[in-house]
Amino acid sequence: MSIDYSEKIPNNVDLAGDRKLQRALESWQPNFLNWWVTMGPAVPTQDVYLRTAVDVGKEGWAQFGHVAMEEYRWGVFLAERGDDRRIAFGEQKGEPVWQQVPGEYRADLQRLIVIQGDTEPASVEQQRRLGETAPSLYDLRNLFQVNVEEGRHLWAMVYLLHAYFGRNGREEAEALLQRNSGDLDSPRILGAFNEETPDWLSFFMFTYFTDRDGKYQLGTLKESAFDPLSRTCEFMLKEEAHHMFVGTTGIDRVITRTCELMREHDTTDIAPHGGIALNVIQKYINFHYSVSLDLFGSEQSTNAANYFTAGLKGRWQEERRRDDHLLTEAGFSIDLVRDGQMTQDEVPALLALNLDLRNEYVKDCQSGLKRWNKILEKHGFDERVYLPHVGFNRHVGLFREHQVTPKGDLISADVWAQKVDDWLPSEADKTHVQSLMRPVYEAGKIAGWIAPPSNGINGKPFDYEYVHLA
Ligand SMILES: [Fe+2]
Ligand SMILES: [Fe+2]
Repeated sequence: MSIDYSEKIPNNVDLAGDRKLQRALESWQPNFLNWWVTMGPAVPTQDVYLRTAVDVGKEGWAQFGHVAMEEYRWGVFLAERGDDRRIAFGEQKGEPVWQQVPGEYRADLQRLIVIQGDTEPASVEQQRRLGETAPSLYDLRNLFQVNVEEGRHLWAMVYLLHAYFGRNGREEAEALLQRNSGDLDSPRILGAFNEETPDWLSFFMFTYFTDRDGKYQLGTLKESAFDPLSRTCEFMLKEEAHHMFVGTTGIDRVITRTCELMREHDTTDIAPHGGIALNVIQKYINFHYSVSLDLFGSEQSTNAANYFTAGLKGRWQEERRRDDHLLTEAGFSIDLVRDGQMTQDEVPALLALNLDLRNEYVKDCQSGLKRWNKILEKHGFDERVYLPHVGFNRHVGLFREHQVTPKGDLISADVWAQKVDDWLPSEADKTHVQSLMRPVYEAGKIAGWIAPPSNGINGKPFDYEYVHLA
């Protein structure tokens, strides 16, 4: 099932065999391109060394080459799947998956797809101006790669809306281009997607923490009984891995450079030497981690329980779980505040599915912290970075009404107000980080606050001309 690039909209879903759908998507296409030109990357380029999906199989699914960005081939690609896939969980466990949307789940499925779809263009909007301050051509290329793929993820969700949700779906597809990140009148749906991504440290944190939330959300939709959604998400996850790689290695490189500067100048206060101090990096971790935790929603949710029971949305790696996949009997331990104390409670597992997913995410986030601490160790420093307590800086869920320190202590609103600049990026921190953001567009050169990558892209060296600016 390789991808047909002779079509106006490259796809592996036989669009040519459904003229009505093809025409509908072809009429959405110019609106998408218009959105890309007005809300996409602000730095003009001749071409960029990008990967394009050419197949959906396990090996060799992507091809690399210089492309003019507006000619990037956004398309509709679904992973291949056997014919006898069965529902893995919920009330209809064991029954064949659905190739069409059952009437009773139409509204819920459409909502899940719209929420996922809304995040994809949002991040492109948030990152629109970052190219103006790229620390190297390598980084600029990675930014654009992430951007074009988020654009393609929007295509993926719009395809589902057009193909399976009729007129309502087409209206929702239009609305995905009308809401904009941070717009006062019509903002994006979720909070973290209305935050700014004003500098490259924020970009790396976003791709590490917030794209990783995306990985977990896609992982639950990949389990869906609605097979086209499942197959779409499976392929999106493949692209998503690179976005998180950009975040992980980006933070590696910032910390490496910070270590070099601390060693060279024999001080942790490296701001005067053009670096980002470790305590500022910690504050950025605190911020991006906590807003990303909010994306998982309330710890207890009847919506999540209903989605699970109906087969719409599973758990992370549902099929590998060793339980009954119904969860009607199971319990789940939950952290909360009672009478001014941190405590734990046991709740029905079915109600705690958002928390179950969040716990998987937290475990995964730890891997980056381990890596970064190894870099500190290797450079001979005793300082360590860490993930703050899950109750820290939360605006959604059980900790919303409480002030919690990064270490997990409950404090008063007054103490919070006094200490917050020690825990979250202060205006001064942001201004300093911003002051370091100067573009470096010469192949092989890099800004002073970040180390070069250990490898280039697709076997190319770091000093390769990844981007030709216009
Ligand atoms: Fe995405
Ligand atoms: Fe992503």
